[in-house]
Amino acid sequence: MALRITNTKYYPKYHIASPGGWINDPNGFCYYKGEYHLFYQYHPHTAQWGPMHWGHVVSEDLIHWNHLPIALAPTEDYDRNGCFSGSAIENDGKLYLVYTGHRDTPEIPEGFRQTQNIAISEDGVHFAKIPENPVAVAPEDEQIHVGDFRDPKVWKNEENDKYYMVVGSRTPDRLTGQIVLFESDDLLKWDYKNIMARAEGNEGFMWECPNFANIEGHDILIISPQGIKRELNKYMNVFQSGYFMGRVDYEKGIYIHGKFELLDYGFDFYAPQITEAPDGRTLMIGWADMWYNIMPEQEDGWAGMMSVPREIHVKNGKVITTPVKELEKLRTAEISYEDKSFYKPMKFDGVSGDSGELVLEIDLTETKEFEIYLRASKDKTQKTVLSYNKALELFKFNRDDAGAGGDGERECPVPAADKMKLQIFLDRSLVEIFINDGEKVMTSRIYPRADSTDIIFVPKDGAFKIDSLKFYELGVGIPQPVID
Ligand code: FRU
Repeated sequence: MALRITNTKYYPKYHIASPGGWINDPNGFCYYKGEYHLFYQYHPHTAQWGPMHWGHVVSEDLIHWNHLPIALAPTEDYDRNGCFSGSAIENDGKLYLVYTGHRDTPEIPEGFRQTQNIAISEDGVHFAKIPENPVAVAPEDEQIHVGDFRDPKVWKNEENDKYYMVVGSRTPDRLTGQIVLFESDDLLKWDYKNIMARAEGNEGFMWECPNFANIEGHDILIISPQGIKRELNKYMNVFQSGYFMGRVDYEKGIYIHGKFELLDYGFDFYAPQITEAPDGRTLMIGWADMWYNIMPEQEDGWAGMMSVPREIHVKNGKVITTPVKELEKLRTAEISYEDKSFYKPMKFDGVSGDSGELVLEIDLTETKEFEIYLRASKDKTQKTVLSYNKALELFKFNRDDAGAGGDGERECPVPAADKMKLQIFLDRSLVEIFINDGEKVMTSRIYPRADSTDIIFVPKDGAFKIDSLKFYELGVGIPQPVID
């Protein structure tokens, strides 16, 4: 039985969230037999991390999700302390989950061992772990830590008809993150191929949750590194998630790539998982939380939610991520304003709420600096503050006064231009901001009072000029907990 949710004040209307208990990474994101499946790291019994299960939601349209029974639980010796993160792939009409079995092993110096395992389903609901498990272990004579060896992502390379698996890892001295590559003809027998990529400089001591895809002609490796050190106001979260662009040499099993780039500049985005939609788009969902950040919803019997599904594209040599176009179908009401220019703080009738979508086209020819308050209380003492300073070329998200657990600021570089486009998703305790069509994204949790719902536009230096403002109410996309 899942933990009961006792209060819905922070519970989202349309983002995937815990049905009671703790969730972290998205897992096994896939399209199978006409539906999108998303699994996730799940501890059903408390609102804290514990022995990991795989929770499961399903959707026909990427926006209306339903909960399904738990897909994986720690039952075998090789996963006795948790079914950790992994991916999914279809083969011969069956759905394969490839996941990490976590086992505490005090008898070895590392203290625990992680191996890769498979569970198969014919209906997409019930999964059977296979007798061949574990299917991949860390080869002992290579420079691979046998403990930290997890989060397999599997794909098929159509060019040579073979399957590949990347596994997150670190060197035995624990100082350097890396990705291990395996190869298989049948998904069951896996051969170690090589260390595909390894951290250089300030790129972290452990690479978690690798994901891989060829997107618009580029081999993209997504990783969630631990141990990247703060550089001025960059890398301020405890862990990061980002990507490389490059080219895999499947013969040698190595990846030649450019520099590490962040996928998100907010407080709360980690361990994203990608999949391919039937129409060829690459989709991504991330955990909209961050390790060790406070989560006041734990008092209400749940913890953790996912970002909206995003599309990944490549533009001007960089990855951009935009909300999936399906989200437009969630819109239930629209309010729209055009050509507004003002020197004093402004509210617009109908533009407020604890959830919804705000789309803004801002003219920056005269505006040097502006702020936008989200979830502001009537007296404005509680507010989440977005700001842009054109001279500094910085967009900032400040949650000092946002509500419970407010703690500082995150910033992201946005080059000065005459126009700026913002698409902002609000959902009770989550804010996702897409800047200039996904060139930059900031995802953060906030915990305001339910009655702090004002949205206020504040000119700071020069007129605030808005070419177009649209505010949409959005429908319900995730079953709402019933409170007795
Ligand atoms: C990332 C992670 C993964 C691991 C999982 C355990 O957030 O640490 O590396 O598989 O969480 O829940």
